[in-house]
Amino acid sequence: MITSHLPIEVRSFVESARREGKSVGFVPTMGALHAGHRTLMERAGEECDLVVASIFVNPMQFDNQEDLDSYPSTLDSDLRTCREAGVALVYAPNASTMYPAGFDSRVVVGRIGSILEGRSRAGHYDGVATVVTKLFNIVVPDVAYFGQKDFQQTLVVNRIVTDLDLPTVIRVVPTVRESDGLALSSRNVRLDPTARQRAVAIPRALTEVAGMFGRGEREASKLEARASEIMVEAGLSVDYVSVAHSGDLRPTPIAAVGDVILIAAIVDEVRLIDNAILGR
Ligand code: PAF
Repeated sequence: MITSHLPIEVRSFVESARREGKSVGFVPTMGALHAGHRTLMERAGEECDLVVASIFVNPMQFDNQEDLDSYPSTLDSDLRTCREAGVALVYAPNASTMYPAGFDSRVVVGRIGSILEGRSRAGHYDGVATVVTKLFNIVVPDVAYFGQKDFQQTLVVNRIVTDLDLPTVIRVVPTVRESDGLALSSRNVRLDPTARQRAVAIPRALTEVAGMFGRGEREASKLEARASEIMVEAGLSVDYVSVAHSGDLRPTPIAAVGDVILIAAIVDEVRLIDNAILGR
């Protein structure tokens, strides 16, 4: 496995693979890799001839310095995970390579980037869109892999791929969960044992709502209220619960099969997100 800090090296590696007729799968990450990332890499390896991953904690997508500073950094074990998952090349630039002095451009995403997560975390999705566009321009992947846990992010990335004519297919891979249902997230390591236990209220709320929907409840406000209630009872601070169309996240008063319920909640200062597709 090659590790590179330089875009030019990544480009020439990928170009020579492409000359040999190989397809390229790409898994962009911010490191602190867990089994969810590994699943994305393995899926890329099943579907593409060659897998490229990136590890870069992107300062532009953090609206809060403390959140950025506390983001876990585990490069050695991340590289081990990539190697074990069959990654051929890891692009791990530093901040000054990604954003050299004088850098002054942004990819600004419209409505889909300004609601829900985008409303709570100002500029977050412009930061995601900017770094993903840069990464896609360097790697030019055939297929890029994203986890369903960051549901809104997958729509933002699909938006820029369509709007900016990027030649990459976006593959969304189901969320990987702990045995008690908690979605894997790099932020979970910041939960102490009590907070970790309380965080299970998030998947519990999703399961309860899925059950209500299965029993015929269609009123979005009732589904949202029940999910909030479960999380508040567990001592979580709920940022939002939204039942929305899965294609554009427009809220829907009457839920239907294929709609999504999205949750963001704070457990002891750790912000967690999760979601479920209704009726699946
Ligand atoms: O999902 C993430 O880890 C990040 O938002 C991404 C896509 C790697 C961009 O920094």
